[in-house]
This record gives sequence, C-alpha cells and structure tokens, in this order.
Amino acid sequence: MSDGGWVRVLKAEALREQGMAAVFPKGLPVLLIRKTGDELYAVANKCPHMGCPLYRGRLDGYTLQCPCHDWRFDIRTGVFLDAPEISLRVHEWKISDGHILVKV
Ligand code: FES
Repeated sequence: MSDGGWVRVLKAEALREQGMAAVFPKGLPVLLIRKTGDELYAVANKCPHMGCPLYRGRLDGYTLQCPCHDWRFDIRTGVFLDAPEISLRVHEWKISDGHILVKV
C-alpha cells in the first residue's frame, strides 16, 4: 500500500525489541530497527562503502556496524562515525493500523 510516499512494509508486531528487519518499500533496501517499544529507526540497508547489506551487522546501543569492513553508523542520524560527511539515508516511519509504514 502506498499513500503520499508512505509505504506499508511490515506488521508492527513482527519486529521485536532490539530486532532488525530488511524491507523493500518501492524496491528500496531499508533496514528497520526497533530499540524498545515504539522507538524505531529506519535507515538505508546498503552500506555506502561497498554496498553490503547492513541487516547482518552488529547493533551496539545506537551504533550499527557493517558486517563487511566494520564501518560504524549512528542509527539515529545515519552518520558514519569516522567521517560525518558520509551517512546512510534516514527514512521517516510511523505506525498505523498495526503496521509500520516508511516514507520513501
Ligand atoms: S561495505 Fe560496509 S564497511 Fe565495507
């Protein structure tokens, strides 16, 4: 379902706390991360270094480490911690009717 750039991607209950899910609104690779409760983040699921999917990365607090060459990103801002001029795209998200929607 799509409406004004919002795309329904996943049932909210399908994403557990501290969990991650790879989704593809309109074909874009997006990584959803639920910290606790309704604290969610949605960032590009493609590392700007060499394109590895971040889905298999390690999450430590708000830091997501790429599984390929260990680049680390802040999931709140998308910023690459070693060079802030590089960042992941951050997507708006919302929960409606029990589903997570991502804006693309
Ligand atoms: S592809 Fe992510 S650090 Fe190299």
